[in-house]
Amino acid sequence: MTDRLSGTPVVVHLRSAGCSFLLECPAEQLPIVRHWGADLGALDAASARSTCLAGAAQGRLPGELDAGPAALIPEPWTGWMGRPGLLGSRQGRNWSPRFAVTTVRVDGVEAAGYTEAGATTVEITAFDAESLIRLVLVVEMLESGLVRMRGRVINEGEEYELSELSLYLPVPAHAVELLDFSGRWGMERQVQRQPFGIGTHARENRRGRTGLDSAYVLHATERGSDFAHGETWGVHVAWSGNHRHVAEHDSTGIRLLGGGELFLPGEMRLAGGEEYLGPWIYAAYGDGLDRVAHRFHDYLRSRPHHVSPRRPVTLNTWEAVYFEHDQKRLVELVRLAGEIGIERFVLDDGWFGGRRNSRAGLGDWTVSADVWPHGLHPLVDAVHQHGMEFGIWMEPEMVNPDSDLARAHPEWIMAARRELPVEQRTQHVLNLSIPECYDAVLEQILAILAEYPVAFVKWDHNRDHVEAGVQPRAGVPGEHAQTSALYRMLHEIKAAHPALEIESCAAGGGRIDLGILELTDRVWVSDVSDPLERQRLMRWTGQLLPPELLGSHIASPHSHTTSRHHDLSFRGATAFFGHLGVEWDLGDTTPEERAVLARWIALHRKHRDLLHTGTVWRGPDPAHGIWSHGVVAKDRTQALYEIVSLTWCTTGAPPHARLSGLDPQRRYRVRPLVVGTPPGGFSPPAWWSEEGIEVPGAALTHIGLQVPVMHPEHSVVIHVEQVG
Ligand code: GLA
Repeated sequence: MTDRLSGTPVVVHLRSAGCSFLLECPAEQLPIVRHWGADLGALDAASARSTCLAGAAQGRLPGELDAGPAALIPEPWTGWMGRPGLLGSRQGRNWSPRFAVTTVRVDGVEAAGYTEAGATTVEITAFDAESLIRLVLVVEMLESGLVRMRGRVINEGEEYELSELSLYLPVPAHAVELLDFSGRWGMERQVQRQPFGIGTHARENRRGRTGLDSAYVLHATERGSDFAHGETWGVHVAWSGNHRHVAEHDSTGIRLLGGGELFLPGEMRLAGGEEYLGPWIYAAYGDGLDRVAHRFHDYLRSRPHHVSPRRPVTLNTWEAVYFEHDQKRLVELVRLAGEIGIERFVLDDGWFGGRRNSRAGLGDWTVSADVWPHGLHPLVDAVHQHGMEFGIWMEPEMVNPDSDLARAHPEWIMAARRELPVEQRTQHVLNLSIPECYDAVLEQILAILAEYPVAFVKWDHNRDHVEAGVQPRAGVPGEHAQTSALYRMLHEIKAAHPALEIESCAAGGGRIDLGILELTDRVWVSDVSDPLERQRLMRWTGQLLPPELLGSHIASPHSHTTSRHHDLSFRGATAFFGHLGVEWDLGDTTPEERAVLARWIALHRKHRDLLHTGTVWRGPDPAHGIWSHGVVAKDRTQALYEIVSLTWCTTGAPPHARLSGLDPQRRYRVRPLVVGTPPGGFSPPAWWSEEGIEVPGAALTHIGLQVPVMHPEHSVVIHVEQVG
């Protein structure tokens, strides 16, 4: 078999937006990434090869293993002692494949020698003639400098059990710290930082959804790096089912970041001729966390199906009425919503089947005649009369045992053994990989979408998958098939209703990843709308997603989830920076409160083009109880910032807040965006006036603005506009 590239390795150098990715593809092993990071500038063939060689020498002591560098998919045969990228066997045989590259294509054209290109796709095909496994690896440099890669395993022999396919990228020795996330309900995206010590930092998820505790983006950074400074490399696995993010530092000094899908035992068996396509693994490099985030944001915004910046201001009924659906009360809510400038009215849980509480009804997606004797038409008509769009809540992958669907088809519930999995919110997971089940669920959803003019679905997923087996097939694992079926279903719904927007919600922000984001249009960041918690939640959820995708609502003064009390100024200013909504019983508000709400909504509508297209900058971690963040227009002609007092300021005079992202060469007018009463200010700083003051961009960047004295848990919003 002469199925091999001959001669010197093919070398490909991809460059875009200040990033370089240098890939060496020797004939006799899988591709090696020689550099992923800062732009190396244009290289000719000789300098590209010497750059590969410069990074190639492995320092080793006498008697040490003659190991080579780790490949994109690290292989044990090379002497790699860490976790292999590909794991699998044919009943104990063919467990250590050795791949030879057969072709390298750059932008579809077969490559030889050296190629340098901008944003483009490289496809590498490799084959192991002994195990009869073929691999296709795709690496893409996107315009934003984001790199993404995925692998396909094709079985050309007898049945092969694939246990793992993970792709890895190297980071240099000065990437000495790790930063990723954890969390729980209401506390999504808690940051964790730790040294990148020897060993494996594996964030494995077996929840069947991305997870409230998801690693989200796993970063390796230079020591002491922050939002603005320090070389930072981050990876993200774009898969909403079980998955892993891994940082590995072996004793020879190699540091890798990577990940892939996580299979349950025996889950991925490939018959002869079958193949497995792994999820995209995204990789972003930048100087500081902000610049890493910008690559994700710019990529998401470049997609043709990305949402318009004119995000309709939303009202969601959950915290207003919970399960108490009453037509009169909800129509009144519609009227009040229309008055304050709401553009989309979303009816949350409680409208269907026997769903009078969380213990019944999931699975029966027909409008409940008990609470909606005339169907939803009177409500939808009122919504339209007040010039709003109509949206509705669903949780299609779930079923309550107390439902007509579960009574008719108990075998559609995912389970690995005879008894059902442990409960969470009195509900179980429906197996969408069973065609009849998939069809029954889809049919019900499409019937609702056919009967009512629905512009938006809040698609929820309120439990972890436990023992997610396929009952009719003796409980074999069904996670991969379930996530694939979910994607297929969302795709079918979108194809039938191209204008429909879908929100990814999972008990708050439990399903946020770039896999689900290909098929949905915003995320519910968290069930917690308490603005103090939201400050942190928005700040860190923004590491992956731009503000227009972050559902962010103004809730009642007394938080339903934390019991804290906050002024409308802080609640409004915090929600203002995302995709704005209201999660407050307007029937329980005063006319004055509604007037202030209306003002926040009007301001958001006025500035949303900037808020939803601009570049996000986050100030450092709290200094003296204060932090700030902002959005700067791409052309840097204007910006909006929020300066937040998280706790009492610990210094006599509050510090200055430096405003990032402006052009130091230009002049700007700075003025407060005051809505209602100023937020607890005692002695306003000099710039606090209607007309504001003119300041050079350099001063705002390097010195910053004097922060007003504020009560804790208050903030101010500032509008900055170029003069001249
Ligand atoms: C989840 C969501 C909430 C709400 C409820 C309804 O918890 O995160 O916003 O929709 O379900 O049951």
